Amino acid sequence: AYVIGEACVDVMDRSCVDDCPIDCIYTGERKLYIHPEECIDCGACARSCPVDAITWDRDLDPASPDSTHLADATAFFYQPLPGRSSPLREPGGAADLGPVGTDTALVAAIPRQEA
Ligand code: F3S
Ligand code: F3S
Repeated sequence: AYVIGEACVDVMDRSCVDDCPIDCIYTGERKLYIHPEECIDCGACARSCPVDAITWDRDLDPASPDSTHLADATAFFYQPLPGRSSPLREPGGAADLGPVGTDTALVAAIPRQEA
């Protein structure tokens, strides 16, 4: 799967959402998350992101901060989020689900990026 890293936080350009053919990029509060099971590895999103936030998981440097965002994306979908009683699991489409409105603890703890 492809993974959105820290460069997306507080930027949320959303070009990736427009270019994903299967609508598997979901909106949190300060970052977007690619569903690791729904993503078909087409790579369109990585080419469209203006801040280069998206990486194929097989290209991730295990020592880079972005490598933690792969496991974090799994947590976003399969662990309960604040304000939600049950995990999102496989929603099957970000447009139908709408903005989730919350982030994982990892992302929520990232200091706000100044504009
Ligand atoms: Fe969509 Fe990017 Fe995966 S465009 S299918 S999230 S590689
Ligand atoms: Fe974020 Fe880049 Fe998509 S900034 S919302 S990953 S286009």
